Amino acid sequence: MADYQSDKQTKREGNAISRRNLLKLAGVGGLGVIIGATGAGSVLNLVEGEAKKMDASPSLGNDIVPFYGKHQAGIATEAQNHVYFASLEVTASSLDDLKSLFQEWTVAASLMTQGQPVGEALTNGYVPPKDTGEAEGLSAANLTITFGVGPSLFVKDGKDRFGLKSKQPKELVDLPPFPLDALKEEWTGGDICIQACADDPQVAFHAARNLLRIARGKAILHWAQAGFQRTKQADANKETPRNLFGFKDGTANINVVDDKEMNKHVWVQGEDGPAWLTNGTYLIVRKIQMYIEVWDRTTLREQENTFGRHRASGAPLGQEKEHEKMDLARKNEQGDYVIPEDSHARIAFGDGKQKILRRPYSYADGMDPKTGSLDAGLLFLSFQQSPSTSFIPMQERLSRIDKLNEYTVHRGSAIFAIFPGIKKGEYIGQTLFG
Ligand code: HEM
Repeated sequence: MADYQSDKQTKREGNAISRRNLLKLAGVGGLGVIIGATGAGSVLNLVEGEAKKMDASPSLGNDIVPFYGKHQAGIATEAQNHVYFASLEVTASSLDDLKSLFQEWTVAASLMTQGQPVGEALTNGYVPPKDTGEAEGLSAANLTITFGVGPSLFVKDGKDRFGLKSKQPKELVDLPPFPLDALKEEWTGGDICIQACADDPQVAFHAARNLLRIARGKAILHWAQAGFQRTKQADANKETPRNLFGFKDGTANINVVDDKEMNKHVWVQGEDGPAWLTNGTYLIVRKIQMYIEVWDRTTLREQENTFGRHRASGAPLGQEKEHEKMDLARKNEQGDYVIPEDSHARIAFGDGKQKILRRPYSYADGMDPKTGSLDAGLLFLSFQQSPSTSFIPMQERLSRIDKLNEYTVHRGSAIFAIFPGIKKGEYIGQTLFG
């Protein structure tokens, strides 16, 4: 930890334009004030100008994930240590308001992902500061901010809210109910999602908070969830992270650097979806509570049979190496499958054709007051090109057969279409909102 801090310190000192410097630089009148006075289009130009200057700087910190690109960051990006996930309800009633919201968000997100405040120097004592301040002096911490829209943005209570109905993708519909679902309204759905991931929890929270603040009068929070993984700093061997049941989680996953795999299973391609979503994807979120106290009273053998993998190594049962292909045909002396027929990995794998990119985080939200046990689990996040032919059949199988169901319950659920990435001068959502 101490090393990471000093590491960050060095990077911070190397930054030509740090959050603090930009606060000074924004003394030109305050970015927030400029947004109000000139409209987001001009702000985009202004920020573009600043961004170009920053691009020219050879000394940008190396914990900055590029904001611009063909795809939004935060999907193929190596999972950061923390997530702050927010699902929003839109209160604005015009498409223009929606458009200007995304324009302002684009400006703010492009700044925050570079480790800069969303605007305004602390020069005007008569108005609240634009940036909430808790990330001042902190590096970008690999912050990524990923935006998407849910089915209810297009049609709600039968109403075509923003004249976007004809653009709603066939795949962007509420997930079907699955057996054993125990969903709560307060953890389900949403018009817009913001996934803020960073290697620092305060940087991730700051990003979501400031975007929510910008949304005032146009959108409100529907639900939010913070999540974590082990930090990379604590994991010298860079192993696969473990979930709260103590098992390596993420072993058999899509290889994000394999473009062929990503194009086949994650990114929406021209012929698969509406043109506005090309190079975007679909995100499925499930808030899954894990009964960790029950799990902790379960024998190691039972735990390993539940997942179909060894806890220590992460290898498939009866095998030695974590990344070995599962030998699903192998039987023991009693004639039973070594990887049990109801084990999570076997059922999730199915015939091996359905593939999703899992990017989950653990959560721990204190105590469940009803039971006195820990309220903890998994914020399951998966990205896929076609929910109807990947996640949905997979979850259908899992919800019926998976032995893991004895220890988990699905409390929340949502689906979002994740916009493609943008070039400088464009704004997130432009392909949909025009
Ligand atoms: C609390 C809930 C869950 C936990 C704790 C969990 C944990 C795990 C673990 C430990 C593995 C084995 C290691 C690995 O390959 O990453 C695994 C594999 C997998 N899980 Fe889950 N999982 C959960 C929910 C889900 C859900 C809801 C889905 C999708 C509907 C899913 C899909 C998969 C897939 C596709 C694999 C890889 C199977 C393979 O090809 O070997 N998991 N999960």
